[in-house]
Amino acid sequence: MNYLRSHTSASERLFTRRQTLLLGLGGLTGLGASTLAHQFMNPSFNLTQPTLNPPTLNNFNFASLGNTPLRQRAANKGLIYGAAVRQYAVSSDTQFAQAVVRECAMIVPEWELKWNFLRPTPSTFDFGPADWLFNFAQTNGLLFRGHTLIWHEVGALPQWFGSVVNFRNARQLFLDHITTVVNHYRGRIHSWDVVNEAIHIPDGRSNGLRNTPWLNWLGEDYINLAFRTAAQADPNAMLVYNDYGLDYDTPQDEAKRNAVLRLLERLKAQGTPIHALGIQAHLIGGETRFNAQKLRNFLTEVANLGLKILITEIDVTDNQLPINIQARDQTVAGVYQDYLATVLNERAVVAVLNWGLSDRYTWLTEFAARSDQAPVRPLPLDDQMQRKLAWNAMSNAFNNAPLR
Ligand code: XIL
Repeated sequence: MNYLRSHTSASERLFTRRQTLLLGLGGLTGLGASTLAHQFMNPSFNLTQPTLNPPTLNNFNFASLGNTPLRQRAANKGLIYGAAVRQYAVSSDTQFAQAVVRECAMIVPEWELKWNFLRPTPSTFDFGPADWLFNFAQTNGLLFRGHTLIWHEVGALPQWFGSVVNFRNARQLFLDHITTVVNHYRGRIHSWDVVNEAIHIPDGRSNGLRNTPWLNWLGEDYINLAFRTAAQADPNAMLVYNDYGLDYDTPQDEAKRNAVLRLLERLKAQGTPIHALGIQAHLIGGETRFNAQKLRNFLTEVANLGLKILITEIDVTDNQLPINIQARDQTVAGVYQDYLATVLNERAVVAVLNWGLSDRYTWLTEFAARSDQAPVRPLPLDDQMQRKLAWNAMSNAFNNAPLR
């Protein structure tokens, strides 16, 4: 199974030969072979001479202010801090599980609520791994959020999907999946990423919608239908539209911000029960095209629609930075510092979640590996669960955030 999706050739240079070789594999649903490279744009520097980010706005040494965990620093400002976790890691790695409970107020299953985990057959559901994480959250007083009900990603669809789903049965399968899964956690879940990554400008539609199987089978109203179905199954859950590529001052990200805003405006205008925008925030160490004011303007426009905002999957890939760990950690921390200082000034931002908590368990090991094979360092804790400069930068960002 490959978690691969299409992307411009520019970012493929960010990836190892292995991942680029995988590009040749076709998707189960007739989608073209692809790669998660879509998450990583072509940074604005010479790829052969990696450069560091410019000094951050504060340019301090990220000296941390004591041992208060991220969850508490966020809560002091009315924010929720959390992370995506893998059930196998939490259940088998006590050191990691303890770090999760120490640092996080909320967890989201990185894998276990996706179709390929939940749906062993077209007529059955396996909630085992997700329920294990739900019970872990309950036992440790953590909030729990769901990711994701509707996504096009070939790698997150079960083996049977491409050969079973068709124009005749797609709608019922779509409705049954959302209703069954949302009902399973009814009244006990913080929020759902109802639809993930439905905008993809390169697909060429005037409204920016991505050509996905769901769009082809159900038409453009599938997004509205997904939210209405989820709201019917759990009127108390916060319902979120989640997407990536919204962060930088580039023509691609600007176009995507505009298309996402138009989508949100359409959904609100037709009374769709949508409550928030999820911004994945997969950031790039070394990318200098960051304009804080343009990002703030976008957040303000989203907030003016009456929507909350969650930073749902923040991490900072370092595969274009020098191998020196101190230099890399400094740059990664600077990216966290500048990005969070910007987004947390918008009071509609109510939660920040890392996509992983420790470098021991990050998807970037596979999807944004370093050409020098050095372990990547995108997250606030290192692979020994020690706090890094990125943790300091996040701590300071929460300390400096305005109270919600
Ligand atoms: C990723 C997981 O982290 C990987 O382990 C998996 O192989 C592919 O999916 N945006 C999303 C997440 O919304 O669901 C993706 O998670 C990362 C990109």
